Amino acid sequence: MAGSLIEKIQELKKERRAVILAHNYQRPEVQDIADYVGDSLGLSVAAAQMKAKVIVFCGVHFMAETAAVISPDKTVIMPDVNAGCPMADMINVEKLKKIKSEHPGAPVVCYVNTTAEIKAESDICCTSANAVAVVRSLPDKEVIFIPDKFLGLYTQSQLPDKKLILHEGYCPTHAFIFPEHIKQARQAHPDALVLVHPECRPEVTALADAVLSTGGMLKFVKRSEAAEFIIGTEAGIIYSLQKQNPEKSFYPVSEKAVCPNMKITTPEKILWSLEDMKTKVEVPAEIAGKARRAIERMLAIGRQD
Ligand code: 13P
Ligand code: SF4
Repeated sequence: MAGSLIEKIQELKKERRAVILAHNYQRPEVQDIADYVGDSLGLSVAAAQMKAKVIVFCGVHFMAETAAVISPDKTVIMPDVNAGCPMADMINVEKLKKIKSEHPGAPVVCYVNTTAEIKAESDICCTSANAVAVVRSLPDKEVIFIPDKFLGLYTQSQLPDKKLILHEGYCPTHAFIFPEHIKQARQAHPDALVLVHPECRPEVTALADAVLSTGGMLKFVKRSEAAEFIIGTEAGIIYSLQKQNPEKSFYPVSEKAVCPNMKITTPEKILWSLEDMKTKVEVPAEIAGKARRAIERMLAIGRQD
């Protein structure tokens, strides 16, 4: 990457008192210029705790929105605001209200992959790093869990005493991973451990050695004595895994497990966003206030993996 591009970003970052946050699925060249790279939960904590006036959020829209909700004193900008999440778009307030009316009294757990409006209508938020711990923390047996049916099914499998009411949402990138991919990868790398994300299908999570968030995978690999790993999630995480563990080997379970939305942010767009302070991600105060409650309740629980 051109040195001058990085230098310009660094100069502007200082001038604007900005930090760059990036998700583990971002392009390598974006991860390399970020001040913090992590999973959805880590990014929420970083957004709240990092001392800065501006957050340049390199991820997808719901993540930047979550940062804006929990850091109302900071300006959050996205280098490309078109980075959405199809799963987050699979539920809206009208659908959620219908589910609530069909299960009166059941608390709502919303995956962080939702809009601020949905968070505002929920009791507590969760990420893949704490979905089981969040549902377990509720006294109720019946719990509405939205929008990811696969994360919901995985959470249900870990909590047989609960009854989760699920919605038909899913991640198109993770839904593309099938049991055949795991079987083929195991044949090719018989000594490797298989790590998969809980957004994967139940037939896939059933074949894994561990089911973890992206942050959980990074922790697991660092502590593990194994030398080889088959990775069942978006391929971008292989870069962080390899960078942090140069002596170990990583094999993506499918080359097709790529989230197009996570790839549209580039260093050039980061520079332009800092130059023009665009695009600001703002949430109306009334919605932000209610959504903040659901996110803060989750942050108090922390991680399970
Ligand atoms: P985590 O990084 O929180 O595991 O989430 C994965 C994901 O798909 C985010 O959109
Ligand atoms: Fe959404 Fe899936 Fe992309 Fe994550 S990987 S941002 S859940 S589409």
